[in-house]
Amino acid sequence: MKKISIFTLVLGLLTVVSGVSAQPHKMHPLDLEVPISDNQVVTQGAEIFSEKCSACHGGQGVGTGRAPCVSCGKFMFRGNTNSEIYETIYSGTPRTGSRGGKMGAFSSMLNKSEIISLVTYLRATERSRIASGEIEDPYAKNQDAMVFPD
Ligand code: HEC
Repeated sequence: MKKISIFTLVLGLLTVVSGVSAQPHKMHPLDLEVPISDNQVVTQGAEIFSEKCSACHGGQGVGTGRAPCVSCGKFMFRGNTNSEIYETIYSGTPRTGSRGGKMGAFSSMLNKSEIISLVTYLRATERSRIASGEIEDPYAKNQDAMVFPD
């Protein structure tokens, strides 16, 4: 009897845990949702990224001398939400003072679902880099600051 209840508990926990990890990613309730657990979308994003983005941003978006990391969970040119990353890809980086303005718009090259797959890929990559300890979790300390950076 006791064994069965522990088994049931473990099964229940597993269901909860897998349910949570299968949820789409968003930074706040009104943010664009991206399906980071949908391998097909992540793979599509990875393919487009290596074709159109990695020359500047490096493999897996880790950054190069030419362009910043886009899988480190920190976005400096717009905010850190999925909607803002979408907007940056759609219309390029905004110029603020002497910064920015170096990346052009992809709105004429990529459709909506392609851009969403890119955001999904970047978020999925960021999550697995955090999970493996490759990068620090930027959300651990101050979640609000990561959604609305200075
Ligand atoms: C010609 C080089 C180049 C290409 C190609 C390029 N980028 Fe960028 N990207 C940059 C640079 C440089 C910046 C930093 C902002 C600036 O200086 O304008 C940037 C910034 C960004 C940012 C904002 C980063 C932040 O910190 O806020 C995102 C997101 C981004 N790129 C995604 C992409 C994606 C996705 C692609 C492919 C569709 C792509 N970039 C293709 C050069 C490039």
